[in-house]
Amino acid sequence: MASVTRAAFGELPSGGGTVEKFQLQSDLLRVDIISWGCTITALEVKDRQGRASDVVLGFAELEGYLQKQPYFGPVIGRVANRIAKGTFKVDGKEYHLAINKEPNSLHGGVRGFDKVLWTPRVLSNGVQFSRVSPDGEEGYPGELKVWVTYTLDGGELVVNYRAQASQATPVNLTNHSYFNLAGQGSPNIYDHEVTIEADTYLPVDETLIPIGEVAPVQGTAFDLRKPVELGKHLQDFHLNGFDHNFCLKGSKEKHFCARVHHAASGRVLEVYTTQPGVQFYTGNFLDGTLKGKNGAVYPKHSGFCLETQNWPDAVNQPHFPPVLLRPGEEYDHTTWFKFSVA
Ligand code: BGC
Repeated sequence: MASVTRAAFGELPSGGGTVEKFQLQSDLLRVDIISWGCTITALEVKDRQGRASDVVLGFAELEGYLQKQPYFGPVIGRVANRIAKGTFKVDGKEYHLAINKEPNSLHGGVRGFDKVLWTPRVLSNGVQFSRVSPDGEEGYPGELKVWVTYTLDGGELVVNYRAQASQATPVNLTNHSYFNLAGQGSPNIYDHEVTIEADTYLPVDETLIPIGEVAPVQGTAFDLRKPVELGKHLQDFHLNGFDHNFCLKGSKEKHFCARVHHAASGRVLEVYTTQPGVQFYTGNFLDGTLKGKNGAVYPKHSGFCLETQNWPDAVNQPHFPPVLLRPGEEYDHTTWFKFSVA
């Protein structure tokens, strides 16, 4: 059982409308989601002793989300992750997107799905947001109807993404929450133990575009099939952090993606998904300059993202899983964030 309450969160400038906040609560979790970007703004999870902490990075007020910030908690679309040089072809026609992370297009463009107001609908155990992305939005072909549904089921936050297109278009939707299971505002995630269910990953070039190879993790720093303690692991392999797509085992059905255990608090996050990949990002670009909730600052490596998704740049790499949605088809993916203590 979950309860849902609804309240105003803030006003957009220049009469842009009211952003609302939806609070979903079960015995085990409390999650706040706002209609700006379908953004998760807070997620309270109990530790072994039953003490609740907010485990996602973010801001107390709407202004925080409207400033330039590294995608704290929103839905990303129309295409999450990078498209090389912002260019692709669909059925022989070339499309050009804005280059917002030189020399590529990142996370849907200048004004992606994270920077728009969605239309909410309260459900008995959650909230559904919808919008129509107009034909040509950010350079993408055709109109896209999108529904994002968050529901709570005990210790599980379930996110379902559905979309329908009027023309063939790439679609890749994810959520970009940064977690810190010690509680947001904790200085780093080095004591988190991470497991990712992937035999292969995608090596990238210096602009973080996959070079095309689907490389075995065996014998590399990317072998996270058995739990590794993140800080020690980064040190051992002289890594600046992860910002890579792991190719998940499993079909289009629900499959296990990742597990993160924070031994000190006992908190565990397990992720399951229908997606073929996950971008594991360790907040390498966080630099401590933003003012977060409760006076928190967010230095490098103070949060991690598990962005379940199709593989980056799939629209330009024919041997990657298909990313085009055609008229008459339905995009339908689900990710489960399951919290527990151990
Ligand atoms: C990307 C990072 C990027 C970050 C934006 C992640 O999904 O993989 O490269 O910097 O989003 O904050």
